[in-house]
Amino acid sequence: MALTRIGLAGLAVMGQNLALNIAEKGFPISVYNRTTSKVDETVQRAKVEGNLPVYGFHDPASFVSSIQKPRVVIMLVKAGAPVDQTIATLAAHLEQGDCIIDGGNEWYENTERREKAMEERGLLYLGMGVSGGEEGARNGPSLMPGGSFEAYKYIEDILLKVAAQVPDSGPCVTYIGKGGSGNFVKMVHNGIEYGDMQLIAEAYDVLKSVGKLTNSELQQVFSEWNKGELLSFLIEITADIFGIKDEQGEGYLVDKVLDKTGMKGTGKWTVQQAAELSVAAPTIEASLDSRFLSGLKDERVEASKIFQGDYSTGLPVDKAQLIEDVRQALYASKICSYAQGMNIIKAKSSEKGWGLNLGELARIWKGGCIIRAIFLDRIKKAYDRNPNLANLLVDPEFAQEIMDRQAAWRRVVCLAINNGVSTPGMSASLAYFDSYRRDRLPANLVQAQRDYFGAHTYERVDMSGSYHTEWFKIARNSKI
Ligand SMILES: NC(=O)c1ccc[n+]([C@@H]2O[C@H](COP(=O)([O-])OP(=O)(O)OC[C@H]3O[C@@H](n4cnc5c(N)ncnc54)[C@H](OP(=O)(O)O)[C@@H]3O)[C@@H](O)[C@H]2O)c1
Repeated sequence: MALTRIGLAGLAVMGQNLALNIAEKGFPISVYNRTTSKVDETVQRAKVEGNLPVYGFHDPASFVSSIQKPRVVIMLVKAGAPVDQTIATLAAHLEQGDCIIDGGNEWYENTERREKAMEERGLLYLGMGVSGGEEGARNGPSLMPGGSFEAYKYIEDILLKVAAQVPDSGPCVTYIGKGGSGNFVKMVHNGIEYGDMQLIAEAYDVLKSVGKLTNSELQQVFSEWNKGELLSFLIEITADIFGIKDEQGEGYLVDKVLDKTGMKGTGKWTVQQAAELSVAAPTIEASLDSRFLSGLKDERVEASKIFQGDYSTGLPVDKAQLIEDVRQALYASKICSYAQGMNIIKAKSSEKGWGLNLGELARIWKGGCIIRAIFLDRIKKAYDRNPNLANLLVDPEFAQEIMDRQAAWRRVVCLAINNGVSTPGMSASLAYFDSYRRDRLPANLVQAQRDYFGAHTYERVDMSGSYHTEWFKIARNSKI
């Protein structure tokens, strides 16, 4: 057997599909997995799916030696300790100049630690975010490789072909930057995904609970929305979901799904990072909190008995107007959510000196990944117009879009509040906008309180310098 071009270790959902994708693009690939049955399964799939050049190995030594030098091995195993274990297994057989790429959802600092450790052994290392789930991995994901640029160059030709291809904007891959930047960007991508999903769920809730739309009406509405500015993978699959009947009973499957959302951690990391960087990300935070609250199913059922009653206003609702308002509210809320995600990336990039190109990130998210959307093109253009944009909201095009939609947005949030329907994501987005656009906030009072009880000092609007006032003494004297 001739040597293969690349290797892939870890053949669960993502690894198996990415290996087949790489082979299909004409790159012979060696595959390995700790549990060897998955190796045979992958080789069998490769045969069935077109005699693809996939070569399976049951032991790491022969796996590594089957790859041409400098060897490149992509790992797709569970993040954390399994990555360290797989590195140890592979590195025992790798030679100076070879490279390991972690394609999992790894914490960026782990990647930086491993890159250093690999460097000491003369090995190169990349942390590469892979988005698009099973389908994306097989047919074209969005790829976010960060770390050694030299390693990226080894496999650039493969990545350019394997990634999703978007007409007019090219393959959904770019060298992200140094260190753990690829993992960090993928993490924020997932945080943005949490926000998108929450906002869509709220649109559904308002239309269903206040507008009384049926599933088939919801399917129509989301299909219609998917023809315009909201066109995206998540809106498309949402429309599909509303059309699927329950094969095990009456009605639609969506109504039988338990209202408890799972999570694997990247959304939580995004929120933790936002806090670490002092970047406001209320929409993404609201989406995480909503998942936490959804998990309290039993408590919520009990609470619903205590707080039972009809929370609806009972006022008539103009369905057509409501649908249009919710569409606009969703779009405006989404702008705020992306603005927050981009600001997290921007802050981290300047903290770490990564020099990340935000417009380029929007471009590689246009295809392959879960948040792919026509809207990302506008974000790319906004950063092309001004790479140092302080916030997406102040880009002239987005600013105009927000202004055009704010009346509808406020109507939807008020309607939801008045009818007892929670819209934490839309409300947080609106509050974000209303805070950001105001030149004076009630922060003066908070600062006065801080100075009152803690002598934290304050600045003045009319004089420079730092001031402290004996608020307590003055107040006590004035009370006497
Ligand atoms: N699933 C998705 O949609 C998706 C999307 C994007 C990114 N990701 C990320 O991609 C990575 C792979 O995801 P996945 O869903 O395909 O698989 P997964 O369920 O996260 O991991 C399973 C793989 O990890 C291996 N593994 C687990 N513990 C190991 C250990 N101690 N030593 C060696 N190998 C070990 C398993 O080997 P055995 O077969 O021997 O157990 C198997 O190959 C993860 O980081 C995930 O977060 C997943």
